[in-house]
Amino acid sequence: MYVPPRVLTNDDLAQRVETSHAWIVERTGIERRHIADHETSATMAIEAARAALQVADADPRDVDLIIVATATPDYLMPSTACLVQDALGAIRAGAVDLNAGCSGFVYALAMANQAIASGEHRLVLVIGVETLSRVIDWQDRSTCVLFGDGAGAVLLRTAEGRAGILASLLGADGSGADLLIIPAGGSAQPPSRETIEGRLHYLRMNGREVFRFATRVVPRAIEQVAQKAGLKVRDIDLIIAHQANLRILEAVAKRLDLPMERFVVNLQEYGNTSAASVPIALCEAIQNGRIQPGQHLVLVGFGAGLTWAAVALKWSEAPMRLAVPHFHNLLRAILYRWAAWRTRLRQLLRRLAIEGIRRAERRGRSS
Ligand code: UT7
Repeated sequence: MYVPPRVLTNDDLAQRVETSHAWIVERTGIERRHIADHETSATMAIEAARAALQVADADPRDVDLIIVATATPDYLMPSTACLVQDALGAIRAGAVDLNAGCSGFVYALAMANQAIASGEHRLVLVIGVETLSRVIDWQDRSTCVLFGDGAGAVLLRTAEGRAGILASLLGADGSGADLLIIPAGGSAQPPSRETIEGRLHYLRMNGREVFRFATRVVPRAIEQVAQKAGLKVRDIDLIIAHQANLRILEAVAKRLDLPMERFVVNLQEYGNTSAASVPIALCEAIQNGRIQPGQHLVLVGFGAGLTWAAVALKWSEAPMRLAVPHFHNLLRAILYRWAAWRTRLRQLLRRLAIEGIRRAERRGRSS
């Protein structure tokens, strides 16, 4: 995982808009969030991916597929996944972005699992990343207090045995598309003076409606995915849900009759990091020793679209315990350095090839 070091507290926000630490904590549970400075979605995704490759002790050249779940890509095109692929030197990997709002990472995880189950792919890198601070209206107190930036990544590979992803489900209800939307900047409303003046390139949310949607859909998704996996809800050791609002998590726990101890909660530190929130919470739970081999986990996301997704899995081993040989880390560092040189070299060769073609054309015309 990667989160920017720059921290924005509720008190900092109270100096910008009419809000207070007390209101934000009471209504959301959020105390601070991390905000990108020089970082972009691609640079944070690259950091998180490198951390995942290190923990798994994997060679970036063995990765077959990279899926980056994000609603805040560096560019409308190319995909952020291609920028990640290039920086990692993942020369055999396909790369694609996936936008399912805050459900993006869980969607990507489910789809990566299908890609592996089909036999088509063996090693898939799944990243959830978001730089929401760049699309937040910092004058809108109803949204700017909620979000933060960051990235989390996991590596999925084929494995023997009964551990791993047991079941997944994906859901969507596009009739709620307007509830969480960045109205301008796409093909419906391309950027113009009017869209900028109308602040239409910023995120807008009907918080109350999204709240109602979340508390309805999340408990149902957890029950359904548990059933698909052959589990009872009480058999789930840990639920890693999208970190939007502590009150949503409490409502879900109440609806499922589960204690809050079964839920990972880290939104007080990071706020809502959209597609990055589930992988960041997962990485922290691993680092804190909250996830043990043999445990059953449910990851669940919900958000823009509207979308929701859930994955039930059995944790096989604690990767942090595996000692990665020092020279493997050194080799990866050399590969990343080489990847940067390779990019420059390929760009130079491309420029030279184009220049060569132009010269040949000029010669052809003058003779
Ligand atoms: O990640 C994607 C999914 N997103 C979510 O899950 C977000 C779901 N929604 C929520 O978490 C909550 O709806 C919010 C935290 C966004 C808002 O909480 P709420 O309890 O639903 O508040 P509200 O929107 O009903 O607003 C209540 C009052 C309003 O004032 P009036 O009209 O009652 O006088 C707002 O103007 O609180 C006011 N308010 C604020 N006051 C101080 C709204 N934002 C703020 C603020 N500080 N930052």
